[in-house]
Amino acid sequence: MSILDYATVSLDDDNSALVIIDQTLLPNETKILHLTEQKDIWDAIYLLKVRGAPAIGDAAGIGIYLAAKQIKKTCQDFDSFYSEFAKARDYLDSARPTAVNLSWALKRMDGVVLANKDKSVDEIVELLKKEAIAIVDEDIWICRHIGEYGVELIKDGDGLLTHCNAGQLATAKYGTATAPMYIAHERGMKIKVFSDETRPLLQGARLTAYELHSAGIDVTSICDSAAPTVMRNGWVQAVFVGCDRVAANGDFANKIGTSAVALAAKRFGIPFYVAAPTSTIDLNTKSGKEIVIEQRDGKEVSTMWYQKPMIAEGVKIYNPAFDVTDNDLVTGFVTEYGVVKAPFEQGLKEVVEKAKKGHK
Ligand code: MRU
Repeated sequence: MSILDYATVSLDDDNSALVIIDQTLLPNETKILHLTEQKDIWDAIYLLKVRGAPAIGDAAGIGIYLAAKQIKKTCQDFDSFYSEFAKARDYLDSARPTAVNLSWALKRMDGVVLANKDKSVDEIVELLKKEAIAIVDEDIWICRHIGEYGVELIKDGDGLLTHCNAGQLATAKYGTATAPMYIAHERGMKIKVFSDETRPLLQGARLTAYELHSAGIDVTSICDSAAPTVMRNGWVQAVFVGCDRVAANGDFANKIGTSAVALAAKRFGIPFYVAAPTSTIDLNTKSGKEIVIEQRDGKEVSTMWYQKPMIAEGVKIYNPAFDVTDNDLVTGFVTEYGVVKAPFEQGLKEVVEKAKKGHK
């Protein structure tokens, strides 16, 4: 069984559990977790057992449904139910700040509750279950469509570079930045992918290289610092990365190191594409300046991957999990409704409007 045969995120309703793969153990161990407690779901998001913007949204949708299922046991009138629901929603929302999909999914679930005030709590919880499942199903549809548009930007024989993991493990299926790669492979195109290791948590080395290799795609793992070299060598014809939040003007946040890749791509005249589901486009954030960047524990840099500390005790560590890439470095945003090119403001608005009307 390949890693691609596992669902990244799913609901086990009989056991009231969120089911995920513990991504911190990959590629060495495939451990499936059944999480029933809100604290464990919060921890799984914070500790990156489930990670990647769309997968975090999928997990949050299921997580808040499970909370609601628990709450209805003691709160059968709407006001007491909603007051507890809102606490659970805010708690999950506090797990990570940068990927907008977390609050996007929770807002969507909140909308279901508020739109059905007149129904019984039992009925509301049933509708929440439907919505949580719809979020996961739509994620698959969205990624497939990103792949279909993205593959048009690839030629047979191309070398592609990606950063972090915007792959199947970061979504319900296909990934975002990897979806065009999977479809190119399906169509028999010969592509070569360079996967940045992605310091400090190695999502590129541990996850992207693993999943692409499992799919039979030609993938080479490189240190982040080798990206400009493979570009200079002429081995990269396009860059595809994911994103955690796209601002209204097209500035976007993604895993730390992405902006350096974009700068290098610009220098070498390589197109730089951002695979962006509309759930990651945040029109309420005007520009990259407003995006909150998650700061993480310095131990991720100094000790986490080493037998011995690699930084002397007492040395200060700055460990931002994401960076902002300016819109002028982006060739296009590949969304489920097509590729948005500069000027981005209008095009991003249009695809978000299309998504509001419902997928399919
Ligand atoms: O900290 P992570 O592993 O959640 O960061 C993930 C990324 O930065 C991804 O590129 C992004 O979420 C897009 S996933 C389709």
